[in-house]
Amino acid sequence: MARLLHCSFCGRPENQVGRLVAGPGRVAICDECVALAHDVALPAAIPPTGDLLLSEIDELVTNDARRGGLLGIVNDAAVAIREGRVTWVGPESEMPRRYRDLPELTCRNRAVMPGFVDAHTHLVFGGHRAGEFSRRLGGATYLELQADGGGINSTVQATRAASPAQLLDGAVERAGFMLEHGTTTVEIKSGYGLETRAEIASLEVARQVGRQLPIDVVPTFLGAHLIPPEFGRDPEGYLRVLEDEMLPVVARLATYCDVFCDEGAFTPSQARRILRAAARYGLKPRIHANQLGATGGVEVAAELGVVSADHLEHVDETGADRLKAAGVVAVLCPTVSWSMRLPQAPGPMLWDKGLTVAVASDCNPGTSYIASMQLVIAVACLDMGLSLEQAVWSATRGGALALEETDKGRITPGAVADLIVLGADSYRHLAYRPDQNLVETVVKSGGVVVGNLQLQGFSA
Ligand code: NIG
Ligand code: FE
Repeated sequence: MARLLHCSFCGRPENQVGRLVAGPGRVAICDECVALAHDVALPAAIPPTGDLLLSEIDELVTNDARRGGLLGIVNDAAVAIREGRVTWVGPESEMPRRYRDLPELTCRNRAVMPGFVDAHTHLVFGGHRAGEFSRRLGGATYLELQADGGGINSTVQATRAASPAQLLDGAVERAGFMLEHGTTTVEIKSGYGLETRAEIASLEVARQVGRQLPIDVVPTFLGAHLIPPEFGRDPEGYLRVLEDEMLPVVARLATYCDVFCDEGAFTPSQARRILRAAARYGLKPRIHANQLGATGGVEVAAELGVVSADHLEHVDETGADRLKAAGVVAVLCPTVSWSMRLPQAPGPMLWDKGLTVAVASDCNPGTSYIASMQLVIAVACLDMGLSLEQAVWSATRGGALALEETDKGRITPGAVADLIVLGADSYRHLAYRPDQNLVETVVKSGGVVVGNLQLQGFSA
């Protein structure tokens, strides 16, 4: 009989452990030891203080326009971090000697830039809609599928049926993927529960993601995603549930309230009513506007002065001027139109009008099952027509401004030290090599949370 393989770390044989991954020779590691290494050894290897020096950086994207251009590039740069905040940035030759005492991460032949801020996602959901996606490729439209019991409603069914632990597993898996691809702050909406219990559970899951992973989560209540089927003939009844039952409870779980104001979802007057009610509970407004048609969302956004108007596939110059005058950030979702084979939002026009533009993944099971901001940047350039510099800025500083996280999305003294190191010497590789994960190392609040410290020349 073949000799049993043993875990090289805890020594238990393969028939006593869940799963054993074998390496070369008879080296092997069981699932439990992998989890232990992850939970104990990795944090212990990373200085918990958030003090770090990134040195020998080939190309640093600061997003500090005072340094020239939109991205404020510094070459042969260094970034010093103390207690999770950037304290010094500039050409390394000018760096004061005192920063040499910091633990050092050498970034030779590498570009460093702010971590991505993904300002619009629907990460908490059950199930998937791959079948529906195939039907769309065959010519069915989003609204036809919705009318046929598909669309958001089918994800609502799957989400209600899932346990909180299952929802958490899925959301953590997707957020973990995001982190590995360079996202350090993510907005997460509820909106697939559409009943009080499931909406609360979704927001609790969103918040829990931020406790389980080194990623900041900004929770948004989207109870007004669709009128759920049980209120199909009584939208007023659902609005009352939103106002009287949900808002008073979710107010302590979320920062923002969002409404899907569009054909087949909520009307402008319903959106206005919900966002006003939310404001009474301290929830700040954002809105899904003009995604499927020019159905009045932009006007509501401008009238209420919402923090962001998202999607905007159907906005014209007049609408753009209104949003600009109201100080609304435009959050564009290029991978949605790409996945849906629909026209993109007029990103270049919105930039020319002087709006603050963010790009986001909108990660959700229906219209964009995509979580990498690197792909979002590529599609923003290749399909929406943004310049690479605009796309990179929008995925970092733009996202931060959309979430009112003003000390993120740039590498300037005082900023939160959320940075990524690319396995390439320039940000220019981002849209150019869209099938690669170019993020080699992720630094969150000054601590290395993703990456191979040895290969990076890390020395504490
Ligand atoms: O942002 N537009 C509304 N919400 C999502 C789609 C949700 C879904 O289809 O499940 C979006 O595209
Ligand atoms: Fe969305």
